[in-house]
Amino acid sequence: MSKLITVFGATGNQGGSVVEAILADAQLSKEFKIRGITRDTTKKSSQELAKRGVEVVTADLSSPESLTEALKGSHTVFLVTNYWETMDADIEYAQGKNVTDAAKAVGVSHLIFSSLHHVKEETNGRLTKVPHFDSKANVEKYIRASGIGCSFVLPGYYMSNYIQMLNRSDDGSYTLYYPVSNNAKFPLFDAAKDTGLFTKVALKHAGELKNKQVLAASAYYTPQEIVNIFSRVTGKKASFVQVSAEQYKASLPPAVADEYLENQLFVEEPGYYLGEPLEPSLKLLDSKPTTWEDLGDIPSRRVGASGAATALRLAQHGADVAVNYVNSAAAAESVAEKIRSLGVRAITVKADVSKKPDIKALFEEVMEEFGRLDIVLSNSGIEHFGSVPTVTEAEIDKILRVDVKGQFLSPNKRTNIWPITVA
Ligand SMILES: NC(=O)c1ccc[n+]([C@@H]2O[C@H](COP(=O)([O-])OP(=O)(O)OC[C@H]3O[C@@H](n4cnc5c(N)ncnc54)[C@H](OP(=O)(O)O)[C@@H]3O)[C@@H](O)[C@H]2O)c1
Repeated sequence: MSKLITVFGATGNQGGSVVEAILADAQLSKEFKIRGITRDTTKKSSQELAKRGVEVVTADLSSPESLTEALKGSHTVFLVTNYWETMDADIEYAQGKNVTDAAKAVGVSHLIFSSLHHVKEETNGRLTKVPHFDSKANVEKYIRASGIGCSFVLPGYYMSNYIQMLNRSDDGSYTLYYPVSNNAKFPLFDAAKDTGLFTKVALKHAGELKNKQVLAASAYYTPQEIVNIFSRVTGKKASFVQVSAEQYKASLPPAVADEYLENQLFVEEPGYYLGEPLEPSLKLLDSKPTTWEDLGDIPSRRVGASGAATALRLAQHGADVAVNYVNSAAAAESVAEKIRSLGVRAITVKADVSKKPDIKALFEEVMEEFGRLDIVLSNSGIEHFGSVPTVTEAEIDKILRVDVKGQFLSPNKRTNIWPITVA
C-alpha cells in the first residue's frame, strides 16, 4: 500500500514544485499518495491539484486542531512556512511548532522542513534584523529536538527576486544595486521548478540524510556574474553597482529595508550557506537544476501582472485583445501568444500612455485591426520605492504623466468609451 505524503504550501512555489516532482517521478509516484494543504480548496490552484489526483485538504498552520486532522495517516510531511504573509517571526515559529507537535501526535515518520540558517547566531549578533531566516532556523531546532525523523531543504536565493531587483532604465539598460562587494556569492535557485527536485533527494536518500540539510541551489554567482549572464542571455546592457547601506535602504519600502539590507550583508559574510559547497547536494539530484544561464532573462519578462491577468480573462470570455506596452515588447508578445492560444485574436501595440500622439496611434491601430473597440482597460501605472526625499522632480513628473494624465487620455471621443473607476 502507498504511503501518504502531506505537502504544505501545495498551491505555492515550493510546495507546488514538490507535488509536481513526486507526480512526475516513476518511483515516488508509486510509493506515495499526495495530500496537498491549502486554506482554500475552492481556488483555481487547489482545483488544478485535485484534477491531478492530489487529495486537497483544508488546514491552517495557525490552527493546531486543523493540523492534527489534516496530518492523520501521513507517513511524510513537507513543510514550508510563509514568513512574508504576516512578516512576524513569532507567528512563523508558532506555525512550525504547531506542525511538529501535530506530526508527532499522529505518528509521522519523516518531516522535511524548508529551513534557513540563523543569521543572528551565525554572525555572533552582528546582524540582528533578518527574522525570516532566524525563525526558520528556530523551527529547525524545535523539529530536531522533537525526536521526529527529519531532514531539511534550505532553498537558495530565488532567481525570481531579480524580476524586481534588476532595475530597468528608460534607455532599456539594467542595473543591479547591492550593498555588497563582488565577493558576495548568491546561491541561485528556481523555487517554483526545483524545490521538488531537491526535496526528492530527502525522500530517496531518507536514511542517509536523516537530520541533515540539503542545499537547494544550482550554483553560486557573484553580482557581476549575475549581470554578465543576464546580458549574454538577453543581449541587453546590464551593470552591477555597489551602493552604501544607506543608499540601499533608501531605495526600499521602510518595512523591509533593514531586513533586505542585512540579508544581502549575510550573503557576503559569512555566506548564505556559511560558505558550504553545493556539490554534496547537487551530486544526489536525478537531473540538472535550473541555472541562471537558463533563467537569466527573467527580469526582462517583467510584465504588469494585473493587466496581463485581466487581458487573459477577457480573452477566455471571447474578447480579441490589443496588448499595450511601452518597453517590454517580448513580455507583451508572450501575453499575446497566451491569448491567441485561447482561440481569439491578439496584437501588441507600443504606445506611451502619457503621450497623446501615441494614444491616438494606438486606437487607430486597434480600429484598423479589429474594426471596433468595446472595452478599454486603462491599467498602466508606475511607482517609486523609497522615502519622499529620494524622489526626484523628474520622477514625480513621470508618475503624474503616466498615472494621472494617461488615465485622462486613454478614453477618447472616437471610441466613445469613458472610464469607470476601479480602485
Ligand atoms: N525569496 C527568496 O529568495 C527566498 C529564499 C529562501 C526561502 N524563502 C522563503 O520561502 C517562503 C515562501 O515560500 P513560497 O515561495 O513557496 O511561497 P508562496 O508561493 O507565496 O506560497 C505560500 C504557500 O503557503 C501557504 N500558506 C501560507 N500561510 C498558510 C497558513 N497559515 N496555513 C496554511 N498554508 C499557508 C499558501 O497556501 P494557501 O494560500 O493556498 O492557503 C501557499 O501555498 C517564505 O517563508 C520565504 O522566507 C524565500
